[in-house]
Amino acid sequence: MLNVELLPTIDNPAVARCRLCGGTTKTLLDLGSMPPANWLMTSHVQAIREFPLVLEKCDCGNFQLGYCLDAEDLYTHYNYATPKSPSLSEHYSRLIGHLEQNGYLNRDSKVIEIGSNVGRFLAALRPRVRSVLGIDPAKNIAEIANRNGIRTLVEFFDRGVARDLACVEGKADLVVARHCLAHNRDPYEILDGIVDVLAPDGALLIENAYAMSTLQKNEFDQIYHEHMFYFTLHAVRTMLERRGLTLVDVMFSDVHGGSIACVAKRSTSNASIASRISAELWHERELLDRGLAQRFVDSTASIQSQLKVTIGNLRDLGNTIYAYGATAKGATLMNSIGLTSRDISYCADSTPIKQGKFIPKCGIEIVSEEWAFANPPDVFLLTAWNYKNELIAKARAAGLERVRFIVPVPDVTIV
Ligand code: TYD
Ligand code: ZN
Repeated sequence: MLNVELLPTIDNPAVARCRLCGGTTKTLLDLGSMPPANWLMTSHVQAIREFPLVLEKCDCGNFQLGYCLDAEDLYTHYNYATPKSPSLSEHYSRLIGHLEQNGYLNRDSKVIEIGSNVGRFLAALRPRVRSVLGIDPAKNIAEIANRNGIRTLVEFFDRGVARDLACVEGKADLVVARHCLAHNRDPYEILDGIVDVLAPDGALLIENAYAMSTLQKNEFDQIYHEHMFYFTLHAVRTMLERRGLTLVDVMFSDVHGGSIACVAKRSTSNASIASRISAELWHERELLDRGLAQRFVDSTASIQSQLKVTIGNLRDLGNTIYAYGATAKGATLMNSIGLTSRDISYCADSTPIKQGKFIPKCGIEIVSEEWAFANPPDVFLLTAWNYKNELIAKARAAGLERVRFIVPVPDVTIV
């Protein structure tokens, strides 16, 4: 059963509440009505439900969606499988190195990852720790992880699951929640479970796309129904403190358009706090006070109109255009400016479970990279711009020396 909770937003600010601090939120950006970005269609004419896509801002530094879908509707059958990517592998090594060097992880650690997907991060961790266990609600995705030897339970993580785990498996020295806390309407449901399963001196690693990168780099296509929060350090700190946890460390990276990896420990553990945290908090506050959020809204409108004109012109000149990367970002990007399969003939993507399906609403068919390279367009719209260098190199290596790439953010450019 679909259950979209329509939290009041624009017309009734008195009841539009920040789901982290309880404060009043204001609408920042309304992207209209959109289908959930990962609900790939099985035919290009399939009817698909749409829901409002509205970004709200709270003075505490939190950004959130005004209208949230149920996690079960979004994640029970899921089309997102972490791709194989050299830049992700490097990122995992860097993260793991940092955790080891700072004493958050060692050879004796028991690790649990929530939202572990096909298990790529756990596979990188496994040789360096005592044990790893994944938890993911998507049966089809967890099966892939289990087949690859990463033990993964099919569960929505909550307090009940956490307590069972603590009994059966013992408490965890490291709990990993990468790109998942912000993907639920109520992150406290997950956080409460984490507190139950975390060893007294254990560490929690929360990684998410960083709201400041999203805003500074005009990444409006990061807004889609799965992303129910856009975390700043302020927001993460608020959330942690409300559950007796302290933000002790932070690492920045370029993955997913700019991400933060935050380490937290129990406030009772007296862990030392990395000195850069206070400087980063100050920097965030300054940028937000200087109107960064409004600048982002203005840039969004300008990118949307430039992209529409660029694609229209290229098409009028007889160019064939494909998208590259059947990303959720691509669904927001293309639907927000009304592109269809008349503008973009196909979308190339390496994920087998996406191929043969269609991007929701715009109805663009997803094909393999091999097929796209054998039947190349004149231009690719880089909908997976976060893998820009890798994807351009891949196309060039496949012999597509003259194909051009439209990169939509931070500004519309043609490579
Ligand atoms: P991602 O940026 O993680 O997407 P989202 O916006 O949904 O979070 O997904 C990248 C997509 O790009 C994914 O569907 C796989 C595809 N991809 C390729 O087709 N080839 C590649 O070489 C890589 C690295 C990704
Ligand atoms: Zn708030």
